[in-house]
Amino acid sequence: MIKNISVIGAGTMGHGIAHVFARAGYKVSLYDAFEACLAAAPQKMRDELQFMADEEYISQADVEKALNNISLFNDLEEAVKDADYVIEAIPEKMELKKELFAKLDKMCPKHTVFASNTSSLKLSEMIADLPEERQALCMISHWYNPAYLLPIAELSKFGNMDEEVFQQVYDLYVNSGKKPVCVLKDITGMIANRLLHAQAREAFHLVEIGAGNPEDIDNALKYGPCFRNATTGMLEVADMGGLDIWLVAHDNIFPALDNSEKGCQAIRDLVEDGNLGLKSGKGFFEYSEEEKTRMQNAFYKRLITQLKASENY
Ligand SMILES: NC(=O)c1ccc[n+]([C@@H]2O[C@H](COP(=O)([O-])OP(=O)(O)OC[C@H]3O[C@@H](n4cnc5c(N)ncnc54)[C@H](O)[C@@H]3O)[C@@H](O)[C@H]2O)c1
Repeated sequence: MIKNISVIGAGTMGHGIAHVFARAGYKVSLYDAFEACLAAAPQKMRDELQFMADEEYISQADVEKALNNISLFNDLEEAVKDADYVIEAIPEKMELKKELFAKLDKMCPKHTVFASNTSSLKLSEMIADLPEERQALCMISHWYNPAYLLPIAELSKFGNMDEEVFQQVYDLYVNSGKKPVCVLKDITGMIANRLLHAQAREAFHLVEIGAGNPEDIDNALKYGPCFRNATTGMLEVADMGGLDIWLVAHDNIFPALDNSEKGCQAIRDLVEDGNLGLKSGKGFFEYSEEEKTRMQNAFYKRLITQLKASENY
């Protein structure tokens, strides 16, 4: 049974992962190799938990419970020596992750499950140098950002793990309020990012060919396909519409869709000009300093509204 969890890396993803498990009652050890990153984590976790309490999604008692269940470590061995499940959220570099897993293998108990939050690296390559017994305890557990507000967690089920161990991890995520998705093949991008980027490729392409202005393209998604997909899956929607209808649409529309194998020129031009989105003040849209904060807060509030609404499904 999983009781003690260690989260490695307290950055964008790690600190949020830590307080999700802690809020569900697990003991969480949070480690970061960089003192400043570790030191910044408690305030970020408190602010995010408090935001959820202020929005009446969790109670004030939940805020304190979560924070009390988290211990900070600047010594890796101390952070993982009692762990049942370790999840790493360190930078997306194969060598760094392999090096970390090699260290963890020596420091952790024999039963400890190792998980990577990688968005794009292959599990098989990441764990290739570990002993066979440990490889059978390794997986990808891929969260979405912000980790504490997006319900999905993609769990790899590639055949290297015993069913019983996988089930323990699955239960951990369900108990932590997540909606786990099993991914059965070691494919680049797993499932959610492939769906996301298939849609993003076409959205950016539509900007590039001037088919609509950015606001209208976003509105087409928000009030069209994504409005349905916030509550109902693509495959369910297709079944409801009738697969014969979808087949005809695909035969007509697929040849017209963007199928380029690289990021599109419209986004490349923006990046080359230093227009990176919110962080530089301009991307597809322009943002003043006040607008940045307003937009981010509105986004988090909308996610909480969706979380509350989705509890009824
Ligand atoms: N940011 C996202 O939207 C997102 C979403 C899903 C998955 N991911 C994946 O999560 C992982 C982490 O991404 P992030 O955005 O949180 O990165 P980040 O840069 O915000 O955080 C990484 C943290 O790891 C620490 N770190 C660096 N090297 C370390 C080491 N050797 N040992 C321990 N700590 C170390 C850093 O100090 C930093 O705090 C990546 O694999 C990324 O692909 C990111």
